Amino acid sequence: MASEKISRVGVVGAGQMGAGIAEVCARAHTDVLVYETTRELAAAGRSRILRSLDRGVSSGKLTEREREQASWRLRFTSDLGDFADRQLVCEAAVEDEAIKTEIFKSLDKVVTDPNAVLASNTSSIPIMKLGMATQHAERVVGMHFFNPVPVLPLVELVTTLMTSPEVTERAEHFAGEVLGKQVVRSADRSGFVVNALLVPYLLSAIRMVESGFATKEDIDKAMVLGTAHPMGPLKLSDLVGLDTVKAIADKMYEEFKEPLYSPPPLLLRMVEAGRLGKKVGHGFYQYP
Ligand code: 3HC
Repeated sequence: MASEKISRVGVVGAGQMGAGIAEVCARAHTDVLVYETTRELAAAGRSRILRSLDRGVSSGKLTEREREQASWRLRFTSDLGDFADRQLVCEAAVEDEAIKTEIFKSLDKVVTDPNAVLASNTSSIPIMKLGMATQHAERVVGMHFFNPVPVLPLVELVTTLMTSPEVTERAEHFAGEVLGKQVVRSADRSGFVVNALLVPYLLSAIRMVESGFATKEDIDKAMVLGTAHPMGPLKLSDLVGLDTVKAIADKMYEEFKEPLYSPPPLLLRMVEAGRLGKKVGHGFYQYP
């Protein structure tokens, strides 16, 4: 039934976004199965979620009991075949079109419910490309969360020319009513609403550092103190991950051919050097 309540969710990927999505789903009382390619990555994903749940307890947002119950609702697998009974799957793998396309092909074969929602958390890959990798493009939508997922209240809902109204409605209901997020809708254009505005800003800040216009500290300080942003653009690039910023910029440039989306050489060099930001301890800043 199209209106059947979603209580069994799958999340593909337990990196910073996948772990955050799995956590908010478990906190919203759904049964969550998380896919990772290896046991080591699954274990790292589980500890990332447990650390974040602990943070929820220490900041008074969760009780000890809620934390424990959320952790019981999370299971991990390295076999996508285990997703057969899922009613909604949110794919949060790396921002790589070939990898995501393969995942959608597999999910389409495995997930049996014809009304299941197959969602991608992609930041920049047109959802149509993922939908057309499946035999059932009407089940495919974009559900784009923001980092840190437990903290930021937005989900961008992206429908394609092929997404069915029932699937759109189920996805919107799940994000809004079950997870308690605010939902905005976007057309299926690379970058959607937020990244179409945010990424040129981050790239401009990186160009400013590159040209010696101002220091990274002063650029960040200026935007925090001058516009009341919670963090400046270079610290935010580190939080998002410089490889992800580059991947999004590449996709947006591919779609629009606008120079403002083209990743500057400093960003390319930092990614080549493995300075990917907060997740590896070193980006524009160092993280202990
Ligand atoms: N998990 C759970 N809770 C967390 C958390 C996490 N990972 N990180 C922070 N929190 C909670 C803290 O517990 C704290 O809660 P409290 O106020 O109840 O004590 C609250 O969030 C604030 O955290 P902190 O006091 O530690 O730190 P800050 O006040 O400096 O806030 C921040 C940190 C929430 C990251 C804030 O700086 C912020 O919102 N920055 C902007 C982030 C942003 O713009 N994200 C979007 C990136 S774009 C994106 O994700 C899209 C993709 O496609 C690129």
